[in-house]
Amino acid sequence: MSDLFREQYVDLATREERIRLFGEECLSTIPEDRLADGLTLEIGCGHGHWLTAYSESSPEEACIGIDLITKRIEKSNKKKQRLDLPYLFFFKTEAKEFLENLPDSLILKRTVLLFPDPWPKKRHHKRRLIQHPFLDLLAARSAPNAELCFRTDHQDYFSWSVDQINCIDSWRIDPEAAWPFEHETFFQNILPEYQTLIAKLH
Ligand SMILES: C[S@@+](CC[C@H](N)C(=O)[O-])C[C@H]1O[C@@H](n2cnc3c(N)ncnc32)[C@H](O)[C@@H]1O
Repeated sequence: MSDLFREQYVDLATREERIRLFGEECLSTIPEDRLADGLTLEIGCGHGHWLTAYSESSPEEACIGIDLITKRIEKSNKKKQRLDLPYLFFFKTEAKEFLENLPDSLILKRTVLLFPDPWPKKRHHKRRLIQHPFLDLLAARSAPNAELCFRTDHQDYFSWSVDQINCIDSWRIDPEAAWPFEHETFFQNILPEYQTLIAKLH
């Protein structure tokens, strides 16, 4: 994306409009056959370590990393530019808002959530990403057979996520599914233990 284009749309009135324009930019850059395969989305990509390494290993795949923090997206974009990965995109946005406003033709084949904020206090559990309405929203944006790959060091968040997924029809945990790609994230590097689950769209 040229700096000029970015400046033009950073100043647009609404975040929804920025997401729509970002989606259109992805649509005009990614070849149609790759769009048909679906995208890999990383929510809370931080500094982009995992997704950049993933994209480097599969440069023909279309990938989008999103995060709430501007500096992290800037660092992620520097990695993308340095490695010249044309179908890798990073964008500052909030996950729910992003999924609600993405153009319909951008469909997800995989969503990756690595060490999301666990919101340990009970009164904050409602802020956890993995829960019923969000899982349904994600399902609505996903291709048949899409997968949700989740990793956390937080035992309570892991058990909560298993319960949330088991309570809904849209996703089903697949204990046989293989983790798509191993590469340490910033948080994985500093945490001694973690648990992993993969759910498939049902
Ligand atoms: C604990 S950090 C993990 C970062 C990275 N995945 C890792 O493993 O090093 C969680 C990240 O998720 C981002 N985040 C939290 N809530 C989000 C949301 N609703 N939408 C997008 N990003 C979010 C935060 O800004 C933060 O960078």
